[in-house]
Amino acid sequence: MSKIVFITGISSGIGYHFADFLNKNQYRVFGSVRSSQDVERIEQELEGVRAVLMDVSDPNSIQNGVEQLAGLLSGKNVDVLINNAGIVEPGPLFYLPYEKMKRQLDVNVLGMVAVTNAVYPLLTKSVARIINIGSISGIFASPFTGAYSASKYAVEGLTDSLRREAAILGIKVVLFQPGPIKTPIWGKGLNSVLQFSGTAYDQFLDRANEIIRLTEETALDPSAFDKVLLHAIESPSPKNRYLIHKHPFLFRIVAYVIPSKWVDYLIAKNLVSTKSKIRPLS
Ligand SMILES: NC(=O)c1ccc[n+]([C@@H]2O[C@H](COP(=O)([O-])OP(=O)(O)OC[C@H]3O[C@@H](n4cnc5c(N)ncnc54)[C@H](OP(=O)(O)O)[C@@H]3O)[C@@H](O)[C@H]2O)c1
Repeated sequence: MSKIVFITGISSGIGYHFADFLNKNQYRVFGSVRSSQDVERIEQELEGVRAVLMDVSDPNSIQNGVEQLAGLLSGKNVDVLINNAGIVEPGPLFYLPYEKMKRQLDVNVLGMVAVTNAVYPLLTKSVARIINIGSISGIFASPFTGAYSASKYAVEGLTDSLRREAAILGIKVVLFQPGPIKTPIWGKGLNSVLQFSGTAYDQFLDRANEIIRLTEETALDPSAFDKVLLHAIESPSPKNRYLIHKHPFLFRIVAYVIPSKWVDYLIAKNLVSTKSKIRPLS
């Protein structure tokens, strides 16, 4: 019998790709979106996928979405929950408005916890899997993405605790740690750092924007997940973490081996020195 998967945030990017890929691989896919236009679009574009309305930053909306999901499942359970929905609120921390920081944590952290708890009663107990989408920003914090990093470091801690608690109940919990992936999230972040012009960071913002543009240009296609996604769902012993990165070895050296003072120096050079060549983020 086909496994049933529920994915948050399937309107675009990684969530859309997961829904499409798993649907084509004979899974029964359900996902969340935030507008009725997106429900219609997704169900038209991805034949067989069913969408429910859910804003993960709003507990009432989560409850309503899970009720819609339960209705569509008509007594069946969810085998795999993928907590994917997320946003980036970029900007220098000294100037980041409180509301933006709060929104970042509401969606990426509290949303993930609230969705997991609301879907828990629907999970196929003792064999279910939960896949949380973290980020390399939960291992390595770049300048001007402090709020996002805070959210993804939190996802690391939450996922470790949940994995150890859920294991006792037979539920496996996995964390994906993607590096840059080509999705609309980059377009949303691009230029938004420019809102901070006129601050003490003025002269670095164009360069920061150029770094974001270059990072998007060299990012991986979402299909880079395909093998690990199937492994995380189907393997009898999935890994705790999957790093999805163009240069995983180099990334690990920068994140874990090189002294952080050296890394700070290299980052400052990339941002400040107009003579040095601009390099993409990690
Ligand atoms: N792209 C990368 O380089 C990268 C790298 C590492 C990790 N990630 C993570 O991957 C996940 C997916 O990101 P993506 O790159 O695919 O970006 P994306 O294309 O912008 O997709 C984000 C998805 O989350 C949904 N979403 C945003 N806010 C929401 C809310 N309050 N409630 C419910 N859904 C909400 C969006 O729906 P709307 O269309 O309605 O806004 C969209 O479906 C995120 O957790 C992100 O942090 C991405």
